[in-house]
Amino acid sequence: MVKEFNHIGVNVRDLQKTLAFYSEHLGAKFVRGLYIPASHTIAAYVQIGTQMIEFLSPLSPSESAVYGIAHIAYTVDHIEEAARILEEKGWHFHVPPKKAGSGGGKIAFLKDPNGANVELIERLESFSEPSWEPSTDVIEIDHASIYANDLQAGIDFYTKDMEMEMLQNYHFEDRKFDMVYMNTGKNILELLHNETPHEGPLMGHIAFRVKDTKALAEKLAAQGVEVTTQPRLLATQNGYVCNIKDPDGIALEFIDRVSLFEV
Ligand SMILES: [Fe+2]
Ligand SMILES: [Fe+2]
Repeated sequence: MVKEFNHIGVNVRDLQKTLAFYSEHLGAKFVRGLYIPASHTIAAYVQIGTQMIEFLSPLSPSESAVYGIAHIAYTVDHIEEAARILEEKGWHFHVPPKKAGSGGGKIAFLKDPNGANVELIERLESFSEPSWEPSTDVIEIDHASIYANDLQAGIDFYTKDMEMEMLQNYHFEDRKFDMVYMNTGKNILELLHNETPHEGPLMGHIAFRVKDTKALAEKLAAQGVEVTTQPRLLATQNGYVCNIKDPDGIALEFIDRVSLFEV
């Protein structure tokens, strides 16, 4: 079913400000900009590691426009076939397979059992440049995090229906939360579950694997970026984590633990 992670889609208020922020502080590289006529939107693709973030900037935003992480996109080989299989399992596509507004293949959208937006994409060409070299201490996207108030429904959807492999299932009894890691082929999807149901946006944060969390936190602070959570030991005890917010208020997490693919 799912071949691999393709991109994280983010709705932004001010594209120039966002691009400047991600390139200056995270070393992201702008690779492509497109106008999508159907939604009167500019899409800008930036690369971190071998992975992409899609920043979507509506040219005539409605007053009800919602900014922040909008969806996570996964590549499939045959989108109509993937949609047919998922529909047979009872999942509804609010955007059935159609030509991508970017012109590069076909896309479709459905919601996971907890309501998070999932994009399936059949790309004709890859937007990313495989030879990318990090220009800062940020190595790559480690995981994208979403809330799963019904954790078991989330696990079942991503493992059985999307056919992702579950890498880890952590339960922290004392802190009353769970973190479940799904292998998306290129990075990890983190399902977060709190004992008290989460309210608010379902898309949690974007986490980047870095060489040295403490050094990066110092560097960001010197660049005038507010470090919202100072470096602290990860719940998994195998590295340090710190947090900042991007210009749209998205929580960005930096972690220096070893990649889950290497343990
Ligand atoms: Fe997208
Ligand atoms: Fe995380």
